[in-house]
Amino acid sequence: MAKLKTMFVCQNCGAKTSKWSGKCDNCQSWNSLVEEIIEQANHSKNHQPAKTLKAKKLTAVKNVDKARIKTGFAEIDQVLGGGILVGGVILLAGQPGIGKSTLLMQLAGHITAKQKVLYISGEESFSQVAMRGKRLLKDRASTIDFIASTSVTDIAATIIEADYDLVIIDSIQTMRLADLRSAPGSVSQITNSTNVLIEAAKSSQTAMVIVGHVTKEGNIAGPKVLEHLVDVVLQFEGDRYDSFKTIRAIKNRYGSTDEIAILEMGEMGLKIVNNPSEILLKERSLTDGSIILATMEGNQPLLVEIQALVNPTNFGYPKRTASGFDVNRLNLLIAVLEQRTKLKLSDKDVFVNVVGGVKLKDSAADLAVIMAIASAMTKRKLSQDTIVFGEVGLGGEIRSVSSIMARIKEAKKMGFVKAIAPKGDSKTKFIEPVKDLRQILIKYLEK
Ligand code: TYD
Ligand code: MG
Repeated sequence: MAKLKTMFVCQNCGAKTSKWSGKCDNCQSWNSLVEEIIEQANHSKNHQPAKTLKAKKLTAVKNVDKARIKTGFAEIDQVLGGGILVGGVILLAGQPGIGKSTLLMQLAGHITAKQKVLYISGEESFSQVAMRGKRLLKDRASTIDFIASTSVTDIAATIIEADYDLVIIDSIQTMRLADLRSAPGSVSQITNSTNVLIEAAKSSQTAMVIVGHVTKEGNIAGPKVLEHLVDVVLQFEGDRYDSFKTIRAIKNRYGSTDEIAILEMGEMGLKIVNNPSEILLKERSLTDGSIILATMEGNQPLLVEIQALVNPTNFGYPKRTASGFDVNRLNLLIAVLEQRTKLKLSDKDVFVNVVGGVKLKDSAADLAVIMAIASAMTKRKLSQDTIVFGEVGLGGEIRSVSSIMARIKEAKKMGFVKAIAPKGDSKTKFIEPVKDLRQILIKYLEK
């Protein structure tokens, strides 16, 4: 028997080297190189003479967008660009325990009303999945076909042979090709298995959802190398918001990547959160140091409360702490406040908290954070019916931000009547024109 060729494959980025080292030269991650057997393709065996290829006009395909499979969650359909495209391959990536299997069981239950769905699990036994299915779907559970298997070749043959509209593979980390000797979950197993499964799905016009686990550190083999192979990558996240989970497309060959769906896990599985702003503002405090920000999460406007606390520094350097907001940005905003207004914060500890576990990445949060600090410092309040958003420059100038009208629409919906914000190109009366930071604080923070 010929000697097997092994190489060291980075489990993070998929780079191969012949020598082991503690750090991957390609992606700089530590301890990610794992020895794997590299299959050598037998070129002589499958050799075929080259043939010239025939080109077609792109318009030759009609109804590109024809039948999308509706998932039963309008918001998730939107994230997908109108539903699951027939023959499309979707990767659903997320941390273990976030609710991927739950969501897919719910989708399957809805889709089987019209189309045929096959659920394949390599993680859970028949009885485990059946129990969850019964609990979530009651009688409708009987409409879903289920197979417990980890054999990719068997699964591919089944996909081609049977005639399903959608096949769910839960999860890719458990799948294995018998020809490969490396363990399930390794880079070569994952990429090769995915290739075989995608080929089966495409050749039989079957839509497929593949589940991929990622860890907090993101250092296991999987979704990173898979992203190139699939049509759509859905990211299922739970740590940006305490109580909510979000689904967004980080890659979509058939739609935009701006939409998000906000979900909540309950007794009966996952549910769309229709009005996240309402939940986030439910326990709103009406003290000084509290400001309501209109932020954007993808295409979705969201109202969140920002709280600040300003205390005299007792010893040493003043403390600056932020939860849900970048602390470097906080330091910068405090510097702007000191320079451009008359507030003195050099002997004060400043704490900022974004309520509800929301983690802000929106630059429009600047003005709200500044106003919260100024409000806490001066013990003056902003009127309850006013929201705030806008980027703040180093000169204390208020800069325009994206989606001004979407933010205002959400604020109106929640009963607010005024915004302290840059007007941008909009002509809305909801926003009073503001320019200078100091003027804003004097005018709007009331005793
Ligand atoms: P699961 O869908 O198995 O997560 P994943 O497939 O991403 O690993 O389940 C996630 C968690 O949700 C699990 O801890 C149990 C919980 N859960 C509920 O709270 N309610 C439910 O109705 C279900 C089905 C699960
Ligand atoms: Mg699962």
